[in-house]
Amino acid sequence: MVSEPFYDPAKSYLDNFEHGPFGLFADTSPASQTIQPKHTFLGHAVSSPFGIPAGPLINGRYVKAALDLGFDIPVYKTVRTHKYACHPWPNVLAVKVEGDLAPDRTLIASHDYDEPLSITNSFGVPSFDPDFWQPDMADAARHAAPGQVVVGSYQGTLPENGSVDDYIADFVLGAKLVKETGVKIIEVNLSCPNEGTANLLCFDIQRSRKVVEAIKDEIGSTPLVIKMAYYKDEQRLEQFLREIGNTVDGIQSINTISAEILDEHGKQALPGEGRLRSGVCGSAVKWAGLAMTERLFRMRAELGMKFTIIGVGGVGNAAAFDEYRRAGADAVMSATSAMWNPSLAREIKEQAHEL
Ligand SMILES: Cc1cc2nc3c(=O)[nH]c(=O)nc-3n(C[C@H](O)[C@H](O)[C@H](O)COP(=O)(O)O)c2cc1C
Repeated sequence: MVSEPFYDPAKSYLDNFEHGPFGLFADTSPASQTIQPKHTFLGHAVSSPFGIPAGPLINGRYVKAALDLGFDIPVYKTVRTHKYACHPWPNVLAVKVEGDLAPDRTLIASHDYDEPLSITNSFGVPSFDPDFWQPDMADAARHAAPGQVVVGSYQGTLPENGSVDDYIADFVLGAKLVKETGVKIIEVNLSCPNEGTANLLCFDIQRSRKVVEAIKDEIGSTPLVIKMAYYKDEQRLEQFLREIGNTVDGIQSINTISAEILDEHGKQALPGEGRLRSGVCGSAVKWAGLAMTERLFRMRAELGMKFTIIGVGGVGNAAAFDEYRRAGADAVMSATSAMWNPSLAREIKEQAHEL
């Protein structure tokens, strides 16, 4: 079902930030939970193992509306240790994909947000200063009803002329700042650029290990979730888990899959340097989220590890939620579909078989 999105792609990021959320998210009242919490998510009782991953819930008002509408594990958008600008508008465009999206394809963008819904999003992980987001995140976390828990997501930034040690120090500072808000679960985005290199951080196993160990030293027993991209190479994924799987408490995957995005005239669709390629999410990436979930589930057993698996990618209805649960996801999240279907949590609670 496609209804008015709670984040409006026709408006700027700032407009959405100041005036959103929209549609059904605009006017909610606190959740009256009727389902007894029967699930545990990283030590917290939750009514359903379902939520919205980092990104669409861009400030506390969005997180609170998600809680009110029964998304029991909402993630407050990825923040940074300092203010960071957003890419120019547009930041979201629809893309037409036939079937599954293989990596490195070229896609045509449009403004037609139809089912099956896939989009590209290009924000550059903007952030306000901690002076804004710390109290806002704290307030959102307190809004959780019994059976709900808010996750705080962040990532590190390489300071200008900074070294790798400075980069890691920024991850540690971010963890400290997020923990100070009182959120009960911290998520670090490792599916971000490995600054100073051409690849994503989660593909640099040794640096990811250093980052994760430094964060764990800082936050102690607070559960740490890492956000990972789709890993093509199974052997490398196993190596990653051998290095990191016992240090982290949860692994969430996938993030977007990169593609070249053109307009209907064959020109770059997103204006500006470095935006020819952009991450695609929604229906067309479900195959990759499911594949990662299956692998993580299998490898967790083989390696005798305990991390919680959070399956993400193309979840648009109760049947997709069920597929992820059968593939081994302890919890499931939806970004793109939830943006256009504010009733998705309710639908899953009513229709899913794997709750
Ligand atoms: C509007 C939007 C913004 C996003 N921003 C972030 C972000 O800041 N950090 C992050 O880790 N993932 C971000 N993502 C990725 C999602 O968390 C998710 O991994 C991806 O969209 C796949 O899920 P989906 O197919 O349900 O959309 C964003 C996604 C969307 C749609």
